[in-house]
Amino acid sequence: MATKIIIDTDPGQDDAVAILLALASPKEIEVLGITAVAGNVPLALTQKNARIICELAGRTDIPVFAGCDRPMIHPLVTAEHVHGKTGLDGIALPEPTMPLQDRHAVDFIIDTLRAEPSGTVTLCPLGPLTNIATAFAKAPEIIARVQQIILMGGAYFEVGNITPAAEFNIYVDPEAAKIVFQSGVPLVVMPLDVTHKVLTTRPRIDAIRAIGSPVAHAVVSWTDFFERFDMAKYGAEGAPLHDPCVIAYLLAPDLFSGRHINVEIETGSPLTRGMTVADWWGVTTRPKNATFMGDVDAAGFYELLTARLAQI
Ligand code: RIB
Ligand code: CA
Repeated sequence: MATKIIIDTDPGQDDAVAILLALASPKEIEVLGITAVAGNVPLALTQKNARIICELAGRTDIPVFAGCDRPMIHPLVTAEHVHGKTGLDGIALPEPTMPLQDRHAVDFIIDTLRAEPSGTVTLCPLGPLTNIATAFAKAPEIIARVQQIILMGGAYFEVGNITPAAEFNIYVDPEAAKIVFQSGVPLVVMPLDVTHKVLTTRPRIDAIRAIGSPVAHAVVSWTDFFERFDMAKYGAEGAPLHDPCVIAYLLAPDLFSGRHINVEIETGSPLTRGMTVADWWGVTTRPKNATFMGDVDAAGFYELLTARLAQI
């Protein structure tokens, strides 16, 4: 029985690879819809990019919705310095022809959770949590109906990437993140602590390139562009492929290891706004609300990713 998911996303090259991984795994994953949110680039681009990715995968049947165009409180912060002006720099793909759905993404999330049997839909946010939190605020009764949330965001031992204290997705909308982390929904968190261990090294990218398909060509074109910023910043032999960790967990959870702990979100301090304060060592009595991942079998992750990308 495939897991029914909604992918909430701000494409972003790594979001694109995550979406392709999900679409390449129809036996395990049924994508009910893709909801775009402002993040890496503005909403007008993230909703367009989501459709470009679906068309690249030959999946124009997947409904794509536009969601929130700015965080709940703060002005939008984007990341063109990492992802380029389009958000999918690295390869020029055709303008999308598949339509954007008329319904707002938040209403799609609410309607879907009301319509599907309770506890059967997993939410997979890959960007700022604005759409998810807005849906929870607008229709609180859907919170108990969510099967689980598997999200990319946060950092603890790896510290921040957009500020010294915070990871981008959480930093952009910390109030939204606080709503999600306090919601009581079962949470699996893929922080930088894990995503920084799945680096786009040459052998790994060459294995994807060797697939030789248009999808594989797009993926390596994206990673060739996307990795230059992080490789220069960290001096590593590749860049972290953040968002596909969320989908890989659905397909092969044993690739990952972590702890069920308390994680709180800083929203009050300008200096540490968006910090995920993870009680990794259990020094508080705060309620355990998240499975916070700390390690990953990187070779296994890339074997899985490469094998699935070869199938679309
Ligand atoms: O910090 C990494 C996260 O921010 C990833 O989801 C990337 O796509 C950006 O959204
Ligand atoms: Ca993202």
